[in-house]
Amino acid sequence: MLNEKVKKLLNEQVNKELYSAYLYLDFSNYFESRGLNGFANWYYVQAQEERDHAMLLYRYLHKNNEKVALEAIAQPDKKLDSDMGVLKAGLEHEIYVTSLINDIYSAAQSAKDYRTMQLLDWFVKEQSEEEDNANNLIAKMELFGSTPNGLYMLNNELAARVYAAPSLVV
Ligand SMILES: [Fe+2]
Repeated sequence: MLNEKVKKLLNEQVNKELYSAYLYLDFSNYFESRGLNGFANWYYVQAQEERDHAMLLYRYLHKNNEKVALEAIAQPDKKLDSDMGVLKAGLEHEIYVTSLINDIYSAAQSAKDYRTMQLLDWFVKEQSEEEDNANNLIAKMELFGSTPNGLYMLNNELAARVYAAPSLVV
């Protein structure tokens, strides 16, 4: 049995990760309508990764004999009014998710739940990569995105991102 607070937070995180998937699908949706298929692909792959994060937590809860409560997924609420605005909203969201993971980690630590801490170690590392990716994307956009040629090249680069299953198995 998991600690009540840890269980509740993990359960909520399943929903938050599914929301992340939904949010990034909306980003992809935005870039599709802009005709920037590479950016759209990048966020489409990101949405798939977020769904994986939810499934890892879902599997973990079941592995510990906890039933998962599937709550409603909120409507994506970020205002998508410019290409750079979307990229920055992505970074802002990842910083928020990092804080959520840290909160669960703190709860697990207080409960001496070493098993959950070990699971979350992967998520801590993943969040550092997510923030790094979001920062790099903003930096590239600042450097190259202001000319049609640069935007075209960057779009082509992002079109090459392919989905890979998570390195963690639960
Ligand atoms: Fe995630």
